[in-house]
Amino acid sequence: MVDVDSFIDEKITEIADAVGDENAVIALSGGVDSSTAAALAYEAIGDQLTPVYVDTGLMRKGETEGIRETFDYMESLRVVDARERFLEQLAGVTDPEAKRHAIGEQFIREFETVARDVGADYLVQGTIYPDRIESEGTIKSHHNVGGLPERIDFEGIVEPMRDLYKDEVREVARELDLEAVISERMPFPGPGLAVRIIGEVTEEKLGVAREANHVVEEELEAYDPWQALAAVIGKATGVKGDNRVHGWVVAVRSVESRDGMTARAQEIDWETLQRIQSRITGENESVARVLYDVTHKPPATIEYE
Ligand code: XMP
Repeated sequence: MVDVDSFIDEKITEIADAVGDENAVIALSGGVDSSTAAALAYEAIGDQLTPVYVDTGLMRKGETEGIRETFDYMESLRVVDARERFLEQLAGVTDPEAKRHAIGEQFIREFETVARDVGADYLVQGTIYPDRIESEGTIKSHHNVGGLPERIDFEGIVEPMRDLYKDEVREVARELDLEAVISERMPFPGPGLAVRIIGEVTEEKLGVAREANHVVEEELEAYDPWQALAAVIGKATGVKGDNRVHGWVVAVRSVESRDGMTARAQEIDWETLQRIQSRITGENESVARVLYDVTHKPPATIEYE
């Protein structure tokens, strides 16, 4: 990207020309990519764009409220409460790719319903360069790439940021005055907390993962990680009060990276790690242990599934 201002002007014209007088939809996830794409497209075509936020129940703490506030100025915003339907689809599913598939499918169903309802002809997507590269390989099936176009008969797909890296997207977001909570936000995977839970996704594990991720994001902000996260990885014995309990094991991970393709585990001071441990075990009775992950990528991936 040469210059942010000219990039923005160019893309606004491109989107307006592509969509013309028709309607478009975009799936908003709350992450920097889709938020930036939505803000660009809204500048270009206003309420001809319907941004759709599907509350999957797999999102970060406070995400839904945050979305409503940030995009309050878009009158066409649709918020779909699909939490129960996602949990139903995930019941009994333990394989990581099967989970991604179940989430992707349900997401498409939810999104299709709105797209049909508003008679959308165009699909705007916040796809960025690394998404395309990883999806071409066999690394993981990123559910935000592919899928939709085959299911809904759109006249066209608009991907204004398909050639950008994450740090360039942030520059665009800042220039568009997207709030710092969005422009500076860590990347969050499409399947959300489901890839931070090993095995079946249940309401209980989701509650543990949501709170623990919130603690980690808060406590590690000062380290400016590419991503900091917590994952519910199993159960182990612990002692709470006078009793031995079989409680959840939460793994904490914080990495530096440029594009997520490789990553280095961050060195975190003991005091901070202990504070994280005591907040996570203190705020949640059912957590018995907190571990810190020192593995780089490779050999580990950033997410747990
Ligand atoms: P991994 O775990 O493969 O993650 O090292 C690399 C980057 O991709 C994100 N990620 C995903 N994003 N759908 C997404 O949209 C997915 O299924 C998915 N899996 C991983 C991860 O958060 C990291 O930024």
